[in-house]
Amino acid sequence: MISNQEKKILVQNAIKVYKNAYAPYSRYKVGAAILTDDDNIYTGSNFESAAFGAGVCAERVALGTALSKGERKFKAICVCGNNVNITPCGVCRQALAEFNDIEVICCDEHGNTKEYFLSDLLPYSFDSKQVIYNIIKWHSEK
Ligand code: THU
Repeated sequence: MISNQEKKILVQNAIKVYKNAYAPYSRYKVGAAILTDDDNIYTGSNFESAAFGAGVCAERVALGTALSKGERKFKAICVCGNNVNITPCGVCRQALAEFNDIEVICCDEHGNTKEYFLSDLLPYSFDSKQVIYNIIKWHSEK
């Protein structure tokens, strides 16, 4: 479990980028901050597009930024929406499940929080073992 101090900083970071979300179509702003094992924090906000499918959720922007810096191990992610009942969408849950199980802190812009574990939000997630098994099977059949 992350400390209360780590949680406070993560929440502050998510709230900060929540305000920068580019969401002119849904008007639903989201900010995310992901904490790595080495205590680095990367942030992201959702962005939308006139070509609706081209937008990306805040969580995957934060995760992608962390990955592009070489990070691979995470402790927690904080997601900020306009109320505390926000939770990451299914696609973001699956994208995060590629890595280790993490705490998911959901908050509103005032800092009220609700907390979960990713494995509770996405039980029985699809994982790399399935893909690797398939590749091995394919090679052995060649
Ligand atoms: N959104 C996120 O950024 N994260 C979530 O977990 C839920 C949804 C964004 C996508 C879209 O820009 C807007 O919120 C409304 O769905």
